[in-house]
Amino acid sequence: MKRIDNLRDYIERLRELGDLCTVDHEVDPYLEMAAFARRGYDQPIQAPAPLFTNIKGAKPGMRALGAPGALSSIPNCPAARVALSVGLPVDSTWRQIVEALVASRSKPKIPPRIVATAPFQQNILRGEAATLDIFPIGTLHEGDGGPYANTWGTIVVRSPDGRWTSWSIARIEKLDGKRMTGLFQKPQHIRMIWDMWVKIGKPMPFAVCQGCEPGLPFVSAMPLEDWISESDYLGAHFGEPIDVVRCEVVDLEVPASSEVVIEGHVSLKNDSLEGPFGEYQGYEANETGMQPTYHIESISHRDGAIWPFIPEGRPIDEFHTCAGLGFSVEGLGLLREAGLPVTLAWTPFETAVSWMLVTVPSDWREKLPNTSSMDFAKKIAAIIWGSLFGHCMEIVYVLDDDIDPTDMKDVLWAIPTRCHPTDRQSVEVGPILPLLTCYSHKEREAARGPKIVHDCLLPEDGKGRARVSSFEGVYPEDVRRKVMAHWKW
Ligand SMILES: Cc1cc2nc3c(=O)[nH]c(=O)nc-3n(C[C@H](O)[C@H](O)[C@H](O)COP(=O)(O)O)c2cc1C
Repeated sequence: MKRIDNLRDYIERLRELGDLCTVDHEVDPYLEMAAFARRGYDQPIQAPAPLFTNIKGAKPGMRALGAPGALSSIPNCPAARVALSVGLPVDSTWRQIVEALVASRSKPKIPPRIVATAPFQQNILRGEAATLDIFPIGTLHEGDGGPYANTWGTIVVRSPDGRWTSWSIARIEKLDGKRMTGLFQKPQHIRMIWDMWVKIGKPMPFAVCQGCEPGLPFVSAMPLEDWISESDYLGAHFGEPIDVVRCEVVDLEVPASSEVVIEGHVSLKNDSLEGPFGEYQGYEANETGMQPTYHIESISHRDGAIWPFIPEGRPIDEFHTCAGLGFSVEGLGLLREAGLPVTLAWTPFETAVSWMLVTVPSDWREKLPNTSSMDFAKKIAAIIWGSLFGHCMEIVYVLDDDIDPTDMKDVLWAIPTRCHPTDRQSVEVGPILPLLTCYSHKEREAARGPKIVHDCLLPEDGKGRARVSSFEGVYPEDVRRKVMAHWKW
């Protein structure tokens, strides 16, 4: 495990690897900066991450980083940005990344360490000077309600009894230099904790941290259980505490690695119009809603601060690599904790993380005697849909583990050849995320809709199970050996 503990070292590592490009000409934060980053995601192979050094209207020296945790442009290393972020080798596979993060779920938690100072305290702005107007905050899609101040930063909030500090990512729109608004959706922890503050009638203290060490967004977007602090999980993952510093005006601690820390209180009512915002399903949005207001009281920042941003849209961008990875890690962890024989859980980024594929070992029948494949598939789906991210999963496929769910070539062969169009499936109506575009307006308003699990498991050996017609599958070993003796490619 090789932790990169700040954004600047991460950027230098990407530069060394040829996965970063510096954009020195002036760019307009109104759409142009985001369009540059978006084009990078839309290429057949992801472009290097753009570091913008000259942003119109921002204080000179301020920088913005696009695509910080997307796929990588390094040949044969699509997961490099994600792997480096979570301390793994550049050439790690998705499976290795998932397994490493699942293993960290059961390690003893390591709480953060409070340190006295941090580089972001170089500039501490209070009163009128504490304004967002000096930062490179972009309008990210034509049709958005305004500039979006938070797309990759970590929001820090704490339960009123002080027992639970939550780090999460949720979108936040800039209303003006001193006010922001953003999503507080159920069942997210930011909403749970805000509800607790509303109940006692006190505005919720918050800190929004931009440009933290690269692993932080990945745990902030992980649907860890209620009352588990993401800081303690990340500490356990790296085997050392994450350094945090006390805030200026609120009773919270924030990652010492932050480039910018915005502090203040959140209103008690849904008193600001939020949105629309082009979301991760890949379509321009047209929906707005009333949400609480973040009132800014203090901003601290490093000299030449770097502000990462994500112009979310059609896959694959960070919503998919980051939230999708988190869904896979939690899904696999929960299925294993329930004692079910599973090999991997994976939500393909290409599906805008709306499908969960679960693969199971060929001996699953020995481990679950007297269980039909459909019952097994339903048990798996119940755990996925019952999780904190279950409302995002429209379809669950259960497959044998000769299929690699991270390989779309495998997936696109397996589903049509193993999934019956009408049989061996079970539909359940339950909570859905209102952002899911496949549902009707009525379903999205009610936040309830149908979800389906497909039992795609092969029949038992000797009971109509066909061999896979591949080099390994249907050629005897002596024939394969003869071929391999002459194989040069
Ligand atoms: C780029 C990105 C943007 C996100 N935006 C939102 C958002 O606007 N609202 C939201 O509820 N979740 C959003 N998420 C997902 C949450 O971060 C994720 O569900 C996380 O688990 C929430 O934290 P919690 O588990 O502490 O509630 C986003 C994730 C990523 C990676």
